[in-house]
Amino acid sequence: MKIIQVQNAVEGGQQAFELLKQAFLAGKKTYGLATGGTPETLYQVMIQSDLDFSDCISINLDEYVGLSGENEQSYRYYMNQHLFDHKPFKETYVPNGLASDLTAECARYDAIIQANPIDFQILGIGENGHIGFNEPGTPFDQTTHVVALTPSTIAANQRYFTSKEEVPTHALSMGIASIMQSKEIVLLAFGEKKAQAIQAMLEGEVTESLPASILQKHPNVTVIVDQKAASLL
Ligand code: GLP
Repeated sequence: MKIIQVQNAVEGGQQAFELLKQAFLAGKKTYGLATGGTPETLYQVMIQSDLDFSDCISINLDEYVGLSGENEQSYRYYMNQHLFDHKPFKETYVPNGLASDLTAECARYDAIIQANPIDFQILGIGENGHIGFNEPGTPFDQTTHVVALTPSTIAANQRYFTSKEEVPTHALSMGIASIMQSKEIVLLAFGEKKAQAIQAMLEGEVTESLPASILQKHPNVTVIVDQKAASLL
């Protein structure tokens, strides 16, 4: 894995954008996108850029079960607000957290990914090493699935909700098998809370206990970290 160390999240977003721009200029059309605080600086640079994504497709990693796209805490709302309302794409896919049949929704999402192989995947990382919502213990060969969020993830994501009780307990997530099929992956991590996960991902063994460690087996991964996230390396 290639590692780029940056001063802060703003510089990290710029560096990620440079990689994304190279893919765009090479004609790549399908972008795997992530939510959370981490990619916000990247999306700001994308919005300010003159790149036109109206011929491109985006496929998001995950969505909370039980939240509609109008709910401000949903990942669909986040994506509209942070990117799509300002920088239109041809198609934007986010799992449907309100689907009445979640198994069918997972199959539908897998079919979307199969029909639109991801050229360039943006990832954040959870404090416990999760990617998307693939929590520790998720089999590496899994595709889109329903996830029971771990107490640590619920606690970490609580900051976006008014109370812990409001944080959904389940999510739909693209699986690790699908993430690994992306042709290029850029993982961003900022802040000391990510330092342990980054160290384990880069220097630890490849294990389902630390989902991001599978990225050691991918041929084209760039990790963009600030000094705090890199402090245990
Ligand atoms: C969330 C999301 C992930 C994200 C991670 C880190 O639970 N499902 O896609 O990468 O946790 O979030 P943040 O960037 O806010 O630290």
